[in-house]
Amino acid sequence: MATEAFEPKTIVVTGGAGFIGSNFCHWVAEHEPGVRMVVLDKLTYAGNPGNLAGIPEGRCELVVGDVCDAELVGWLFEHADACVHFAAESHNDNSIADPSPFLETNVRGTYVLLEAARKHGVRFHHVSTDEVYGDLALDDPARFTEETPYRPSSPYSSTKAASDLLVRAWHRTYGVAATISNCSNNYGPRQHVEKFIPRQITNVLRGERPKLYGDGLNMRDWIHVDDHSSAVWEVLTRGRLGETYLIGADGERSNVDVLRAVLECMGQDPGAFDRVRDRPGHDRRYAIDPAKIRRELGWRPERTDFLAGLAETVEWYRANEPWWAAAKDAAEARYAAQGQ
Ligand code: NAD
Ligand code: TYD
Repeated sequence: MATEAFEPKTIVVTGGAGFIGSNFCHWVAEHEPGVRMVVLDKLTYAGNPGNLAGIPEGRCELVVGDVCDAELVGWLFEHADACVHFAAESHNDNSIADPSPFLETNVRGTYVLLEAARKHGVRFHHVSTDEVYGDLALDDPARFTEETPYRPSSPYSSTKAASDLLVRAWHRTYGVAATISNCSNNYGPRQHVEKFIPRQITNVLRGERPKLYGDGLNMRDWIHVDDHSSAVWEVLTRGRLGETYLIGADGERSNVDVLRAVLECMGQDPGAFDRVRDRPGHDRRYAIDPAKIRRELGWRPERTDFLAGLAETVEWYRANEPWWAAAKDAAEARYAAQGQ
């Protein structure tokens, strides 16, 4: 069913200095020796050029700039075969505090990139989230599929949904060679400390108690970031144009279970956490049915031992305090102002 393999030589990776984008660049450097990457990243609070350290010279160049800068994007696309679009404002809690950068980067930025892809005939892979589908009840036997209607809940997920719809329209109306993937919650090294798992790990490392929102029964479907990277590569190179692929690794767990696992993994009492104010509009459950990507592209996750992946992630944060210390202070100041 998959189309003939597409073999890009030069790819623009937007948001490549962030968590998933940088892990993707490391993955490509290791697995695809013929591919050169140009990272376009604005280096917001979430971007860190150090995330690309260790990628061999000549394989990956960082261009500091904004995806909303049409002139810069046009110039980069003149010299590229494909774009993998990770850049976004990505944190729900920040979107509740101030939605405006989410509109700008997630919606207008995607529009600017699509226009450049149209003009320069660049293949476009859009990285999106399962959160566009809204949430499921805890007792619902269903999982999200590519046919699930869009029903986003937060400013973040609504801007991601809007960007997905732009990609679909630019494919259908202008014939832009585009694919979309919607992935579940990622974890692994280099994730910003504002997010759930790194926040709790770094709290413990600092001798602070972890913070759980509400009753903690919300379910997330966890995937190791390396598995997300391999899936994105499969969709970019072998996915059918105009199609959406859901990416997930059958990793559903409640927040409280994940938190207890973090504490146990770090030699702490699994009950040693604080319950804090819940997130407004907090989605109850996300769950991905990954049947299509498995069936059509034969993709399989490899990092399916969650506790092993978590232990490795804990070790990464333990060994890299200089990477996260300043960001931690800023993130905790934001949380304190929100009562969380
Ligand atoms: P992140 O916040 O860690 O990284 C985002 C990167 O984009 C940063 O390097 C930032 O500097 C850059 N950026 C932000 N605005 C920009 C702009 N205007 N121009 C250029 N660069 C800009 O995010 P992440 O967790 O790595 O997520 C990457 C993508 O994956 C996002 O599109 C997100 O919606 C999607 N996604 C994330 C998850 C998850 O669990 N984190 C799950 C599914 C999908
Ligand atoms: P998060 O990492 O923000 O991802 P998302 O909102 O995209 O799923 O949060 C994951 C889950 O953890 C979510 O249900 C909110 C919850 N959470 C906490 O309980 N405590 C925290 O300190 C944070 C940041 C999140």
